[in-house]
Amino acid sequence: TGYFTYDPGYTSTGSCDSAITYIDGDKGELQHRGYSIEDLAGKSDFMEVAYLLLHGELPNKEEKDTFTQTITNHTMLHEQMLFFYRGFRRDAHPMAIMVGVVGALSSFYHDSTDINDPHQRMVASIRMIAKMPTIAAMAYKYSVGQPFVYPRNDLSYAENFLNMTFSVPAEDYKISPAVARAMDRIFILHADHEQNASTSTVRIAGSSGANPFACIAAGISSLWGPAHGGANEAVLTMLEQIGDKKNIPEFIARAKDKNDPFRLMGFGHRVYKNFDPRAGVLKQSCHEVLEELGVQDPLLDLAMELEKIALEDDYFVQRKLFPNVDFYSGIILKAIGFPTSMFTVLFALARTVGWVAQWNEMITDPNQKIGRPRQLFLGHAQREYVELEDR
Ligand code: CMC
Repeated sequence: TGYFTYDPGYTSTGSCDSAITYIDGDKGELQHRGYSIEDLAGKSDFMEVAYLLLHGELPNKEEKDTFTQTITNHTMLHEQMLFFYRGFRRDAHPMAIMVGVVGALSSFYHDSTDINDPHQRMVASIRMIAKMPTIAAMAYKYSVGQPFVYPRNDLSYAENFLNMTFSVPAEDYKISPAVARAMDRIFILHADHEQNASTSTVRIAGSSGANPFACIAAGISSLWGPAHGGANEAVLTMLEQIGDKKNIPEFIARAKDKNDPFRLMGFGHRVYKNFDPRAGVLKQSCHEVLEELGVQDPLLDLAMELEKIALEDDYFVQRKLFPNVDFYSGIILKAIGFPTSMFTVLFALARTVGWVAQWNEMITDPNQKIGRPRQLFLGHAQREYVELEDR
């Protein structure tokens, strides 16, 4: 009943208006609140970008200090959450733990779930941004059987996360400034990307007025898939599978074969029909970090060769398939010491900022309505019910 447009995958449906992130897919440009991602990644830091996404303007010094202090004050996770972790199998995927633990926060914070109260919304947003590194690091610690490390208020957001992830009781993790900077830059590059699948999931979940922590858990679930945030994990698995430059043509041929479900992971994008600008920044970061850490990873050479061959191949040229953000991030994360299973977790951690900014924007949008797509029904016309004994 009624007129609607059939648009699988919403390739041409604008679901909202937004003032947060602008993408020009043909030119390969990305801006947050008017600032280019290259400027933000090169000159800013994650706390500033978080403030910018949430509040619309870059903070002045005092605003930045206050914001950072507020985030720092909320990094602890309630001790009772530790029992929750212990309920997971020890080899549970950390993304599964993230979905569960973030969803469980909805049962803890009854003082920040009135979505119509701007103060409560901001407290919920701050809590999520502040606690995500703690939750992520604890997911990692649990998976390797090491004791949880508590947050430290004297460290920056990225440093604190690295410390909680890699410190062990016998030895504090030595935080290299270059690694902390690279971590912070990875967070900036993943902070927001307008109406992607996980952000749309958060918006649609929130459009019913649902609990904000539960909405973010829904976003994490959507991000997990290999076509979305899970691609960074899939890229590394793919590079390891390729193993040697001489095998690249075989995998390129498989990616082009329509009877083979294999796709070149870290390539292609719904919106970018040009270089993903985040991939450019990460490629450069990748060289810097590996040099700083003295890591020689043959996977980097392999990735560069794969990129070169794909960019010259007609199939990829015609379809405008370029490397995306996930293509190089995994190599940096591996060099820092993260296991592959943590890659998408780091994406979720950083994207939380975008999710809460978009969620806040949606709640305050005067045109906001419950998300409710229509369908093209292709099933049976009405028919007679057949009793069980007659079937
Ligand atoms: N390898 C081989 N062929 C591809 C690839 C790829 N990575 N990506 C797209 N194509 C082909 C696809 O088969 C189709 O060909 P044809 O027109 O002959 O049928 C054409 O390119 C258009 O693809 P599509 O699936 O209609 O495009 P989409 O906008 O629905 O999908 C995508 C976008 C990102 C899901 C897809 O490019 C893909 O699966 N890429 C690999 C996974 C990946 O790297 N994801 C990360 C995306 S960026 C970060 C994030 O969102 O988290």
